[in-house]
Amino acid sequence: MLTRKILVLAIACTLSAVTACSNSAEHDPANSANTAIATRAWMNPSVVADRRADLLLKEMTLDEKLKLVFGHFGTDMAWKNFKKHPAALPHSAGYVEGVARLGIPAQFETDAGLGVAAQGTGPGAREGTSLPSGIATAASWNLDLAYKGGAMIGAEARATGFNVMLAGGVNLLREPRNGRNFEYAGEDPLLAGLMVAAQINGIQSNHIISTLKHYAINDQETGRFTLDAKIDDASARMSDLLAMQFALEKSDPGSIMCAYNRVNGYYACENDYLLNQVLKTDWAYRGYVMSDWGATHSTVAAANNGLDQESGWEFDATPYFSGALKEAVNNGFVPQARLNNMVKRILRSMFDKGLFDHPVAVTGKIDYAAHALVAQRDAEEGIVLLKNERNLLPLNSSLKKIAIIGAHADVGVLAGGGSSLVYPIGGSAVKGIEPLVWPGPVVFHPSSPLKAIQRYAPQAQVSFNAGTDLQAAAKLAAQADVVIVFATQWVGEALDARTLTLPSNQDALISAMAAANPKTVVVLETGGPVTMPWINQAGAVLEAWYPGTGGGEAIAGILFGAVNPSGHLPASFPLAESQLPRPVLDGDPATPDARFEVNYHEGAAVGYKWFDLKGYTPLFPFGHGLSYTEFAYSGLTSKLINGDLQLSFKVTNTGKVKGKDVPQVYLSSSLNNWEAPKRLGGWDKVELMPGESKVVSLLVDPRLLGMYQSATKTWRISAADYSVSVARNAGDIAAVSITVKLAARTLNVLGKDIK
Ligand code: BGC
Repeated sequence: MLTRKILVLAIACTLSAVTACSNSAEHDPANSANTAIATRAWMNPSVVADRRADLLLKEMTLDEKLKLVFGHFGTDMAWKNFKKHPAALPHSAGYVEGVARLGIPAQFETDAGLGVAAQGTGPGAREGTSLPSGIATAASWNLDLAYKGGAMIGAEARATGFNVMLAGGVNLLREPRNGRNFEYAGEDPLLAGLMVAAQINGIQSNHIISTLKHYAINDQETGRFTLDAKIDDASARMSDLLAMQFALEKSDPGSIMCAYNRVNGYYACENDYLLNQVLKTDWAYRGYVMSDWGATHSTVAAANNGLDQESGWEFDATPYFSGALKEAVNNGFVPQARLNNMVKRILRSMFDKGLFDHPVAVTGKIDYAAHALVAQRDAEEGIVLLKNERNLLPLNSSLKKIAIIGAHADVGVLAGGGSSLVYPIGGSAVKGIEPLVWPGPVVFHPSSPLKAIQRYAPQAQVSFNAGTDLQAAAKLAAQADVVIVFATQWVGEALDARTLTLPSNQDALISAMAAANPKTVVVLETGGPVTMPWINQAGAVLEAWYPGTGGGEAIAGILFGAVNPSGHLPASFPLAESQLPRPVLDGDPATPDARFEVNYHEGAAVGYKWFDLKGYTPLFPFGHGLSYTEFAYSGLTSKLINGDLQLSFKVTNTGKVKGKDVPQVYLSSSLNNWEAPKRLGGWDKVELMPGESKVVSLLVDPRLLGMYQSATKTWRISAADYSVSVARNAGDIAAVSITVKLAARTLNVLGKDIK
């Protein structure tokens, strides 16, 4: 027992470099803590973080300060023949040295939003629990679930020795082909901002830092190191930046990661507008800005324009925030006060989020079975039932013959590629699919849909066909009582989908199965929206995204009605690329160094707003999602509380089974002076028994009723009639609506009334 305690403490000491650890394990920890506080006032947990950071900063030498602003990559790389920092955790994303003399812990950084990722495979690469993709969690529209998922992955990070989790991706889904959409939370600033904030709060409940990213307008992967995102200030503040702003306000992440791309001419990590003006001044953000890995391009410009910490310096052309920064501070190109501010921000977040008071240790204590269930619950609410003709679903467990076709559904469910990939415990269910190297390997979590389906229908003969031989698959399909055809779209970091067409001829496969048997259910595992030329043939369609560690179980539970589907699309699914603001994706993956512009001419009219503006009907609208029961809305009323719009309405389960609904409030202005006809103003997720009703109350953020004014940095709400609707989705023509008269109102940049 004692040996084990000493071992754990010894590991904790190596990892956190806390000076109290130099004492023997027999020492009374309370006494050591008191001694530490007596000699080091900043170690006193009852002093506020800001003050503790000031006290500590005063004690630091220039070289010690420089250590904190300089991040190392955490993994050996053949590229550049590079060896990781010896103290970094193997296969990790990053490491920032601590200062043992002053009790400053090192920062151990891990990706990311789906769980504890590992960089590359090989000995020592860690495995863990994977949440479903971020877009799947967003599709649950369930803040509590997002929090619980964050708390779970944060606990795994802590137990594996990490105190900084690079999680909190909130780039708007402006571009449905973006290879990282699966890491993010969809196309609406309110939904994305709040869902990601809930996840960050869950992560940070483990006394570790979470990192909102990628700031900003990093909305496609093609050309991500070079592209220049063009967008005007007001449009950005009402779209991509608003999502970030909501997320920051609701969660206060310890850090924020600036992106690879340029924004209006300047790299995001040396962009005075983004970092100094918007983030640190207008939004009064007090945490620190870390660069993405390879996103630092200068010393003086980056430091003075707001970057606080260079990450994974080995990816940059040179170690900008090491010797060069020292020289720049010594000769005055970067003021000493600026360096102090960089360090203060880092220290403040470390104090505020608990890195000093709750040092991390590699305990390995993880209840993987319980964590898998957290992931499964998340997937169950994130999977979206897109179509269900003649109630083909739920399936009856007394079916005799079930044919399962395609996508390795006999053994597992697909994961997305890149730095966010969490390696499954025991390894991938499918090996050898290209690309084998980054952003590969292509991984399937070993949660077999087939096995889970068999458990729900123990009597049935469940057969599998890989789907590579159309004729053989169609023969099996024709003989079955029901066909479940799985299709995948693998995308990842650095790798956009060039088109929204399912790859590898899967459209033909689905079409052939549906032709062979009209009782065909399609299950999609995709990073984001795809087109569905076979939609009229398919009996039912489930969008399962990348469903994570418990994905197979979650899919089967929905197919058989053990779980009533309640996911709703966090992004519009277009009929075709021709409906998009950019029918062809900008940039060419064959010339990754080419510098080009992406002109976000649609401004703040992202996703459903664009479809509304243009009068396009998508394949499936934002917010769409079916259930095995039905819901009705009534009694919509409004009142003003301190000028803010409060809405209440009744939701009733009018069907025959228990279910969860996502009533959505949409706002529109009679003046027609918004970027698009309507905006999401709020939502709730409610569970109801058959016949049961609940009254939902929502307070609308006033910024969602206004237009941002760049010249005055204000939000202006015009005096006008506004239409308020409770709807099933953004295209719901049966929505319940009222008209509300609002007076003119001006709010500051944070959405507060100007007195
Ligand atoms: C990604 C970040 C990630 C970082 C560290 C970069 O390639 O863009 O999201 O956190 O690597 O792995």
